[in-house]
Amino acid sequence: MSILGIETSCDETAASICREGRILSSVVSSQVIHSKFGGVVPEIASREHEKLLNYIVHQAVEEAKCRLENLKAISVTAGPGLAGTLLTGVSFAKGLGMALNISVLPINHLEAHIFANFLADPTLEFPFVCLLVSGGHTQLWYVLNMSDYRLLGETRDDAAGEAFDKGARIMGLGYPGGPAIEKEAKGGNPLAVSFPLGLMGKKSLEFSFSGLKTSLLYFMDRFQEREDLSIKDVIASYQQAIIDTLVEKTRRALNKTNCNTCVIAGGVAANNRLRKNLHIALPNARIIFPDLLYCTDNAAMVSYLGELKFQKGESFSLDFGIQPNLKLV
Ligand code: KG4
Ligand code: ZN
Repeated sequence: MSILGIETSCDETAASICREGRILSSVVSSQVIHSKFGGVVPEIASREHEKLLNYIVHQAVEEAKCRLENLKAISVTAGPGLAGTLLTGVSFAKGLGMALNISVLPINHLEAHIFANFLADPTLEFPFVCLLVSGGHTQLWYVLNMSDYRLLGETRDDAAGEAFDKGARIMGLGYPGGPAIEKEAKGGNPLAVSFPLGLMGKKSLEFSFSGLKTSLLYFMDRFQEREDLSIKDVIASYQQAIIDTLVEKTRRALNKTNCNTCVIAGGVAANNRLRKNLHIALPNARIIFPDLLYCTDNAAMVSYLGELKFQKGESFSLDFGIQPNLKLV
């Protein structure tokens, strides 16, 4: 049984085939056009998906050595995300599903990010804590089962990915900011500048990154006067402030739930320093990260979760729409 997954929630056009829990193909086209605007332009993103999707889907089918007629179902990201880009993927999936007379399953993008961890470690078992860190979300979840999620804490303002992206813009680095900051921080001293960490009160599991961003803005205004510092030191220190917050709140979440397994989900999970720092801070915990390819937006996680949902035998109708503000719970 082969399941096609489609992902168009933001600026990645992606398609994947999953069969019996194995990813047979995962094709991702990242829209580089947005980098010159310093962020995603929704209208351009929708048009790019429209142009690319048919080709990307056929490529995924071909790479998996599969045929459209052999597909059992299609799973597609229905939210959260940009309304126009979601609509492109969902409309395409419904059209193809009708033509092939197969089910089309709506997928929650956040849930798909969490399930990317089962691809990294198939022995993963419930319950576990999940640090979900993407461009739009920063949340700590206690995951008791599929569809049984308890929110432990979340950001009150910017998401961690957003803090990377906005910080990168302030420091004159490219978009997306996370990979740019990670690259440029190499060789810098992460202890050179002590940026403020948000909501570190003893028990809080909430996050706040807007104060950090403002602090960077003021710091950069006077950076020229600081002959003792290189820009690499500032970048490394800014990255460290975000990581320190994420690591400490994750430690607290594991303590609070008395749980020893933690998975990291979303684009920021690609950050190597975050990975290392979590292992150092939590030497006895089992920490799982998705493969680098499946941290940022991709359709492998959508086809994988789609297959699980299809196997559960729920009945699916085409009567669903996009949900740009879809939550996990
Ligand atoms: O999950 P994702 O691809 O899209 C959303 O669902 O939002 O996450 C994108 C976010 C961006 O903010 C990007 O800067 C961040 O993930 N990101 C990183 C890294 N790679 C991507 N942040 C830190 N370090 C990275 N290596
Ligand atoms: Zn995402």
